[in-house]
Amino acid sequence: MADKPRILLTTPWPERAVMAMQNHFEIDIHAGPLPMPEDRWLQALQTYDAIAPTVIDRIPAQAYRASENRTKVLGNFGVGYNHIDIEAARKGNLAVSNTPGVLTDATADQAMGLLLAVARGISLGDWHIRAGEWRGWNPTALLGTHVTGATLGIIGFGRIGQAMAKRAHFGFDMPVVFHNRSRIDEDRASALGARQLESIEAVLRESDFVSLHCPGGGENRHLINVHRLRKMKPTAFLINTARGDVVDESALAEALKNGTIAGAGLDVFEDEPRVHADLPALKNCVLNPHLGSATETTRTEMGLMVMHNLLAFFAKDPMPNAV
Ligand code: DGY
Repeated sequence: MADKPRILLTTPWPERAVMAMQNHFEIDIHAGPLPMPEDRWLQALQTYDAIAPTVIDRIPAQAYRASENRTKVLGNFGVGYNHIDIEAARKGNLAVSNTPGVLTDATADQAMGLLLAVARGISLGDWHIRAGEWRGWNPTALLGTHVTGATLGIIGFGRIGQAMAKRAHFGFDMPVVFHNRSRIDEDRASALGARQLESIEAVLRESDFVSLHCPGGGENRHLINVHRLRKMKPTAFLINTARGDVVDESALAEALKNGTIAGAGLDVFEDEPRVHADLPALKNCVLNPHLGSATETTRTEMGLMVMHNLLAFFAKDPMPNAV
């Protein structure tokens, strides 16, 4: 029997997904430092048939010249692939796959969690107790913003945006407005209580909460900038579980400090793991370390999806999730 393809995981995965991979491939796991250093990448490109990167990887230009490398495919562990130069991959015959679908619910859950956490003082209240500041129930302490019935604006109405709309509409009676580059079927949208608006500005103007669900990189970099933050209501909140670079983080920090908007729930940052120095001190934002897909179930399914893509690739079949 031919040797099993050799695969490098650039960071450790949940155990069940690694075990499944080991049934088909010879697996090595880069254990640290993270992200995987460039010299390790260069060596890995000559050693492995496939590499499975994640959002934290800095992929060297050499990776895209597949004919010079042993590595012919990147099985990305994640749906977002703005860390991969897809144009260069196409030109260099490097195949790439991703993991859509399996993290939709986990990410929408996290977005709704951040919305509730920042609007209702769930995170602030927790710190209030831990800091020993709770003196007892009080009719005016830590008053939050009412969520049920408030208008939710969604930017990017793909799988995760629609899952967010579903939670808001069915769980919290929230009217939903959204912006999406392509037209979404009206019946599909209205089944989720959602209405497509022509511009991002219109969504920002109407919404009490704005949740971002568009891809990062390219023209979406700083989609939410100082001008667009000013279009939001001063009572509104921004939720970002998409990509950090969609928001100009300095402009957002300023907007949170001077009351341009009421608050933010952030799971992603422009230069992870660095967070803008002003944000941690602000009580009107809740900060999470990129946890959108972070459940055991979801992360395992992401690994299994990488595996199915690589199995197809080495069987010379089309990868189910080729990018
Ligand atoms: C995704 O899958 O895009 C998550 O943000 C992790 O990369």
